[in-house]
Amino acid sequence: MEAPLPIVDLGTLTAQLRALRAEALPRITAAPDLAALDELDLHYLGRKVGALSGLMRGIGALPVEDRPRVGAVVNDVREDVESALAAARARAGAAALAARLAAEAVDVTAPARSIPRGTLHPIVETIERITQVFGQFGFVTYEGPEVETDVTNFQMLNIPPDHPSRDLWDTMYVDLDGALLRTHTSPGQIRVMQAERPPIRALLPGRCFRYEATDAAHASEFFQVEGLMVDEGTNLADLKGQLVEFAHAMFGEATATRFRPGYYPFTEPSVAFDIGCLVCGGPGCPACGRTGWMTILGAGMVHPVVLQYGGIDPEQYQGFAFGMGVERIAMLRHGIADIRAFLENDLRFLEQFR
Ligand code: PHE
Repeated sequence: MEAPLPIVDLGTLTAQLRALRAEALPRITAAPDLAALDELDLHYLGRKVGALSGLMRGIGALPVEDRPRVGAVVNDVREDVESALAAARARAGAAALAARLAAEAVDVTAPARSIPRGTLHPIVETIERITQVFGQFGFVTYEGPEVETDVTNFQMLNIPPDHPSRDLWDTMYVDLDGALLRTHTSPGQIRVMQAERPPIRALLPGRCFRYEATDAAHASEFFQVEGLMVDEGTNLADLKGQLVEFAHAMFGEATATRFRPGYYPFTEPSVAFDIGCLVCGGPGCPACGRTGWMTILGAGMVHPVVLQYGGIDPEQYQGFAFGMGVERIAMLRHGIADIRAFLENDLRFLEQFR
């Protein structure tokens, strides 16, 4: 048996349509968000499952002359529901936007968060300053290896095996075949001379190693900057003039300077270069051993034998060389009392060099 057709007449259908609208409009107004409105849209206006489509299926059972009148009511109801949905969607959209703007608001008056910046290590910064000053005198920076050999670290610098001056450099050996950690940057002199032709003006900054008992003034790892100038007629006056200029650029024009006789196997004559004590300024204090002077480097005229090892004819060319301790100079510049501070990497120390 077939299900009986619903009894449909114009009045009932019209009343149902108006009831649908009366139910839909307040629900649309009360919908909390866009998703709820989408659900109501489907529920009332959906083509297949919507309540309005359900009622419209009854139109076919009406007498032909009633159909246009119901059609007009259907259109009214649909338009009312549609415009209620549109208005509600506009409100919900505006509310969502307002909420997002509030949540993502940027306070343009808030102070900027600072980005922590690294700093150059005081040793690096001091090396840069040294190479900058000598760069103005035409010196070019080179680098030699940290592992050298007995030949380059000593023998080619006029220090034969068993020479008593080896006591000046307590050496750390890498193997039994003569490989060692360079005790100074001077082997770089040999490398530069072998690689270049005069005129030569070279700087060689680098890390050096000595077997030392560590204290406030001694470290077994430290930096030197080597200087080498080779040309026709280079003489001790050139050396003295450039070192005095360097001291004034580095420590101030008023800095006093002096040269003393020194001894190195690879220079002849050899000198020690002192500056007036930066702590007491002359009369003597604990920092300068009560002498009023501080030694900042060793230097001298390159020994003819060393020039020959470098492949340079000492009859035609002469040279001067110097070697300075970078830590010593950094300590004087910044008033640092203990050499060990450079290797500890304590941020409280390093952050002071911004
Ligand atoms: N190499 C020497 C040292 O380490 C310093 C020096 C370099 C002296 C060049 C003279 C010339 O003590």
